[in-house]
Amino acid sequence: MKLLFIGDIVGAVGRHIVAQRLPYYKSLYEVDFVVANGENAAHGKGLTKKVVNQLLASGIDVITLGNHSYSKKDVYDLDTALPLCFPGNMVGRFQDRHTVVLEKGDIKFAISSVYGAVFMDNVDFSPFIMMDRILKQYPDHAHIIDFHGEATAEKQAFMHYYKDQVSAVLGTHTHVQTVDADIFNGCAYISDVGMCGGYISILGRDLEEALDMIVHQKQTHYKPASSPALFSGVMIDFDENMRAVSIERIYEKPSENLR
Ligand SMILES: [Fe+2]
Ligand SMILES: [Fe+2]
Repeated sequence: MKLLFIGDIVGAVGRHIVAQRLPYYKSLYEVDFVVANGENAAHGKGLTKKVVNQLLASGIDVITLGNHSYSKKDVYDLDTALPLCFPGNMVGRFQDRHTVVLEKGDIKFAISSVYGAVFMDNVDFSPFIMMDRILKQYPDHAHIIDFHGEATAEKQAFMHYYKDQVSAVLGTHTHVQTVDADIFNGCAYISDVGMCGGYISILGRDLEEALDMIVHQKQTHYKPASSPALFSGVMIDFDENMRAVSIERIYEKPSENLR
């Protein structure tokens, strides 16, 4: 059973590169299901109805979120049946909608969004309390966790604490892919999957605007980068016992003549 997990999709260029490259990766790896972090998909922050429809139409099965879950008002009017995972331990109206169950043959996957408590805003309670609740709520499932957090130490601690009970802990939020993808006791792990968004940018944000803010302390709005995009993800293979057997990083940069 193969899962393709895609890192934070940032703005229109991120959505576009996903729509463009997903069919290729799906057929190359014979992917069974696709999960993507969509917290930055609508102009860099949050989701709209149009954007959710676009992401699902491009071949994504489940969309996970993060600190930007509620940035667009549209989110409050979205159909509750949509396959969206809101961070369960972050303050917000939909924190009870943290898990989406996907049945694949005899296997029931529970895909959940858990939120880091270190260097993050609007933390409601500990990610460890959250995970204990998820395990109680979904006792017979293979657990895929999007751990949305800043601190690599917290992500590693979370994975080692739960590695025997969950099938994957995949970090999101920093937008920079880490090289530590590996399997620990049958649990796939990476500190951060990375992003799909403009390559010449600051974490997917327009370079000039980000420099104005960081270097010159100017007031700015969020403008996603429009430069050719990077595609970041991980491919994970699970055995019949729902344990991960391999994880492979995907990090596809735009060719140099396009940058
Ligand atoms: Fe993000
Ligand atoms: Fe985030």
